[in-house]
Amino acid sequence: MAWLEAGTGWPVILLHAFPLNAGMWRPQLEAVPEGWRFIAPDFRGFGATRALDRKMGLPPEDGSQGIDQYAADIGDFMDCLKLDDAVIAGLSMGGYVAFAMYRQAPARFNGLVLADTRPQADTPAGRDGRAAMRERLAREGTRAVADQMLPKLLSPRAHAEDAALVARVRGMIEDAEPPGVDAAIVAMMKRPDSTDDLPRIACATLVLVGEADEITPIADAQAMQAAIPRSTLTVVPGAGHLSNLERPDAFGKTLADFLLARL
Ligand code: MLT
Repeated sequence: MAWLEAGTGWPVILLHAFPLNAGMWRPQLEAVPEGWRFIAPDFRGFGATRALDRKMGLPPEDGSQGIDQYAADIGDFMDCLKLDDAVIAGLSMGGYVAFAMYRQAPARFNGLVLADTRPQADTPAGRDGRAAMRERLAREGTRAVADQMLPKLLSPRAHAEDAALVARVRGMIEDAEPPGVDAAIVAMMKRPDSTDDLPRIACATLVLVGEADEITPIADAQAMQAAIPRSTLTVVPGAGHLSNLERPDAFGKTLADFLLARL
């Protein structure tokens, strides 16, 4: 796997959203709190991990792996970095992977951050939407995925006032390779419901949600937080689904406060 990292100290693994890449964590990598090491891998099929696979002549993803495979990859990645445990932080699809990881290896969690995500599996309507997105991706490529997702990934404020951010997110989506995007859609469609696991999450947990998140709204974050024993919830003012990109200062301060309490 390829990854970005910054800082030295206790590790935090940052798991990216769909269909982005580790680059979405740049604002956090540029402001790592003292005593921490932020590590942001690209999931299989995405970003520099896919570029490495291509260099080594490995074929693109074929859609056969599920969300458990993405989680197992992170476990292998931690082994390679010789990390027994870490704070695991996932945003949206990154959160789905974190739930799967928690089922596989709870002892590796030195804390959990769940940002703009939800434990539920897809609804039947949600699965139909994903099937339609796969068809669009096959026909029109990642630009069509960007067209479809961008209105919901960022808040109306960001769309009106922050053309640079909109362009950055669009660029990450359009740069993704269709087989990796398709495989992730299939994995998300098939992912299990993690709701029953929430009361068993024993580590300290921070739940974050953008105030204007349309994909995983505040009510979902509140219900999720209420079910996790040692958890707190912070609403990121004014942010949409990609709350870490829209409000890096507020997101970063909440994350830093959570981490400082762990030291
Ligand atoms: C994400 O941001 O990772 C996606 O919106 C998740 C999803 O489509 O369920």
